[in-house]
Amino acid sequence: MPSFRVATPAHGYDATIERGVLRRAAEFVPPRAGTVFVVTTEDVWRLHGAKLAGALAGRAIRVLYFPGGEDRKRMAEVEALADQMIAAGGDRTSIVVAFGGGIVTDLGGFLAAIFMRGIPVVQIPTTLLAQVDAAVGGKTGANLVSGKNLIGAFHQPLAVLIDPDVTATLPDREYRAGLYEIIKCGVIRDRALFGVFETERDRIAERAHDVLEHIIAAAVRIKAEVVSEDERESDLRRILNFGHTIGHTLEAETSYVRFLHGEAVAFGMIAAAKLAVTAAGFPEAECARLCGLVNSYGPIPSLDGIRSQRLFARLASDKKTLKGKVHFVLPTEIGVVKVISGVAEEAVLEAIEWALNNCATA
Ligand SMILES: NC(=O)c1ccc[n+]([C@@H]2O[C@H](COP(=O)([O-])OP(=O)(O)OC[C@H]3O[C@@H](n4cnc5c(N)ncnc54)[C@H](O)[C@@H]3O)[C@@H](O)[C@H]2O)c1
Ligand SMILES: [Zn+2]
Repeated sequence: MPSFRVATPAHGYDATIERGVLRRAAEFVPPRAGTVFVVTTEDVWRLHGAKLAGALAGRAIRVLYFPGGEDRKRMAEVEALADQMIAAGGDRTSIVVAFGGGIVTDLGGFLAAIFMRGIPVVQIPTTLLAQVDAAVGGKTGANLVSGKNLIGAFHQPLAVLIDPDVTATLPDREYRAGLYEIIKCGVIRDRALFGVFETERDRIAERAHDVLEHIIAAAVRIKAEVVSEDERESDLRRILNFGHTIGHTLEAETSYVRFLHGEAVAFGMIAAAKLAVTAAGFPEAECARLCGLVNSYGPIPSLDGIRSQRLFARLASDKKTLKGKVHFVLPTEIGVVKVISGVAEEAVLEAIEWALNNCATA
């Protein structure tokens, strides 16, 4: 049962990775807490709700359904959920359990952050992406018409419960999208994890329990370490954005509908690998190795009609731009990255163009 401590100035908590931990959920909800508001989506509740409801039997629990979807990850939904909590007698002693994918963990966490100026949240992520990324680290939020995740709060959970078994019901694309984020962790900080993706490709694709638990734990350990050292993304936390700077431009260019976040990150990692050859001394052979690995977990949807110039133009408006300069997280070798700014525009454009031609697509 691997469990990793996230130590932030606000408070410390554990992210526990354990098959069947869902059945032990009650152990992570303080006995003195009042009503337990489970924020979830109907699909997740239908698939896995019985286990959680069984675990919390005997507690005052209320299930609040959120419609799901990026277009509903909005303040209006947070307000509607808060009103439902009040109607059901929610107060300062209440607690939120966010039970779903990254949209639910972000929105449920945000709800907890602002309900009566803040009540605790227990995160129970159910997509691979949310397990290794969204639910750990305390970033919560919602979208604005102007852009994604532009409002939110840091609200560290009481605990994060990661049950690898729930990922068995994920559609293949969602599963693979999560794998790309774990590959990212290998590139930025864990060469051995990267190696596991190379040697265990088939077993990972089949979701073999032992290897799945191993890669989830490795990724959560990295996220926990990075967040513990740097909660608010001043410096170190930025390394988690490897593949995201260019990946975001692809998501935005296609209005967040053609690619899943993780798929856009796969594209971004391929572009960043190429850029690293020019701008960070990343060996050409390692670039080929990284791109080969990412592509072996593909394909991602078609890139038809995407123009490199248009992706490039979007870089400047990315939220991660600092004082007008784009910062790239680039590997110098597999397992080691650095943050580099002031990269020549032609090199960036060339890397995007290269990724458009070298990504395995459907
Ligand atoms: N806070 C952070 O640090 C952070 C980091 C990364 C991503 N995010 C956010 O996460 C969101 C994306 O999360 P996501 O990729 O999990 O998408 P998602 O929450 O939309 O989930 C994907 C789909 O899978 C369904 N689902 C969830 N669990 C399932 C299961 N076990 N079996 C079958 N279906 C299941 C969901 O209902 C949904 O339809 C984005 O909004 C992004 O901004 C946040
Ligand atoms: Zn991501």
